[in-house]
This record gives sequence, structure tokens and C-alpha cells, in this order.
Amino acid sequence: MLSLAQLKSQLPCVLKNTDFPSLGEKYEGKIRDNYTQGDRRILIVTDKVSAFDRVLGYIPFKGQVLNQMARFWFDQTKNICGNHALSFPDPNVVVGKQCKALPVEMVVRGYLTGTTSTSAWYNYSKGVRDFCDNKLPDGMKKDQKFVHPIITPSTKALHGNHDESVAPQVLLDRKLVTKEQLDYLMKVAMELYLKGVEICAKQGIILVDTKYEFGLDNNDEIILIDEIHTPDSSRFWKSATYQQNFEAGLNQDNINKEYLRIWLADRGYMGDGPVPNIPEEVIIETARRYIEAYQLITGENFVAEVGPVLERIEENLTKYL
Ligand SMILES: Nc1ncnc2c1ncn2[C@@H]1O[C@H](COP(=O)(O)OP(=O)(O)OP(=O)(O)O)[C@@H](O)[C@H]1O
Ligand SMILES: [Mg+2]
Repeated sequence: MLSLAQLKSQLPCVLKNTDFPSLGEKYEGKIRDNYTQGDRRILIVTDKVSAFDRVLGYIPFKGQVLNQMARFWFDQTKNICGNHALSFPDPNVVVGKQCKALPVEMVVRGYLTGTTSTSAWYNYSKGVRDFCDNKLPDGMKKDQKFVHPIITPSTKALHGNHDESVAPQVLLDRKLVTKEQLDYLMKVAMELYLKGVEICAKQGIILVDTKYEFGLDNNDEIILIDEIHTPDSSRFWKSATYQQNFEAGLNQDNINKEYLRIWLADRGYMGDGPVPNIPEEVIIETARRYIEAYQLITGENFVAEVGPVLERIEENLTKYL
């Protein structure tokens, strides 16, 4: 594990954004800079951190952690569902198949939790018992495990808008996907989640919930795109302390950006208005947690690439420029 001093010294080197006109047409997502070259899509994962659907700052090594974690999971799940990854020319970069993204995110939840207004817990605490067509019993407590994991699809909002959770049928009514596609997405999302749960469990981790994005490749096959089972797309807790925290009504031991979300929520920030100034210690602790998550979940040592990220990426992408 990197020392706090090493994490601190990476602060000025973080990857904020990229500008490589010769890499292809650029689309700037919240976290990834995407460049399209014909049937290839080059995704550069920046060190931006977002919560409540907004970018809040930059976390050392976060892009590397995310990209390498997605790589691990793409590999572990390729027999369940094909994915876009073709190659990884840099720790922060994946070259993928350019797809037609389906306008839906498949969210799978194993536990009743969350802090945002789209979270299952928030809705449940406000009295909602039918969550995207999943009927929930009365009397559940925060962070309680569902009898069976539930799928709560959400529509992919355009830049700046909040996503909307909907019942599967709504996706059909709005003609966002076909019935055949929906059936496949529901099946595969659950299989991917259960595979994630199984692998995490061996590592002493609970994969609490997650979301998947899919796209149509050149052959109109549905494949997994973007990222999978990263701390940005998923929530992870430590198994060892789950039960005691649950019974005492304490926050779970999160090993992801939930830390930052809770830090902000404790200061009254819920996604609207000016973002509170996030102190350096909190940024560094967030970085530490991302790296810890990588090591705990994959069981692999994280080999941090220290130094300026942008220059390194430019060098590693020379053949694509
Ligand atoms: N192989 C792919 N083909 C087509 N689109 C893809 C592929 N992989 C990822 N994407 C899309 O590229 C974007 C990746 O950028 P990023 O993850 O930063 O965006 P986001 O914050 O998830 O969403 P938004 O684009 O709404 O800001 C997403 O919109 C994702 O749907
Ligand atoms: Mg994304």
C-alpha cells in the first residue's frame, strides 16, 4: 500500500482531462474521455470523482484503479456476457468496440441502502413499497439484505440530468428496448451480479449493488460496455463487520466513494447548490480507499504508476494518434 506521503505527492499529477484531437471524435463523459475511431472507442479514465451526478474533484490513481478493476471483472465475466474491451494500452486506458449504447442502466441491488434520492433506502423510508415493480415488505431496516436481489432499471439521462428509476415495463412502453432485449438484459444483469457476489464473498467483501450498461456491437449483439463492478458503479462493504454494524444501526464499512458521499451528506450536501470545499486529507483518504478496494476485491497488489498521468498516456497512445 502506498504511504500517505506518496498519495499526497501524486496530487499535482492527477489526470483532469485530455485533449487529443488526432485520437478521433471526442465525447466527454462525467469520468471518461471517449474518442471514437471508426469501430473502435478509446476510453481514457480520468481521476475525476463524481457523486450526486456531479464532478467534485480529482483523486490520485483513481482512473488507474477504475480501469484495472474493470479489466479484472471483464475477464471474470466474459463467459456470462461479452464485453467491449479489446486492449489496455495504458493503466488508465481501454480500447473498446464502438457500440450503440442502449439508453438504460441495469441496476441490481442486494441490500436496502443508499443516500441519494434515487436510492432504494430513501424511497423505502418515504413509504415506497413497490420499487420498479419489486414489492418490498414492511418493517425492513436500512442496509438489510433483500430476500432476493432486485433489479431496478434506470433510464440514462442526458448530460446533467438525474437518471430515473423505472419498472421494466416502462422501458418497453417508451420503446427504449425490445421485449427480447429486455428479457436478455434482466437475465444477464442478474447473472453478472451473482458472479460478482460470489467472487467478492471469497475476498470477504459484499457486492451490495451495482449498475451495468450495455450496447449493440457491429453484429447487433448485446455486450457489456463502459465499466463493471468498479467502486464508481458499485457499492462494496466489508463482510466481517456487516452484521454488527447492521444491528447497531451504524454506517457500513464502505470501501468505495460512499465515504465521500457520506462526508458531503454529513455537511448537508445532497447534490444541489455549491459543492463544499473538500480538504486534502479527505481526498487522500478517498484515494487510499480506492486502492484498498482494488487490492481487496481483486486480490492483486496495486502497482501505482506515479508521476504525471497525461504525458504517460500520450506516449502509450502514440500508435493511435
Ligand atoms: N463501447 C462503448 N460504445 C459506446 N458507448 C460507450 C462504450 N463504452 C462506454 N460508452 C459510453 O461512454 C460514456 C463513458 O463515459 P463516462 O462513463 O464518463 O460517462 P457517464 O458519466 O457514465 O455518463 P454520461 O455520458 O452521461 O456523462 C458513457 O456515456 C457510456 O455509456
Ligand atoms: Mg459511465
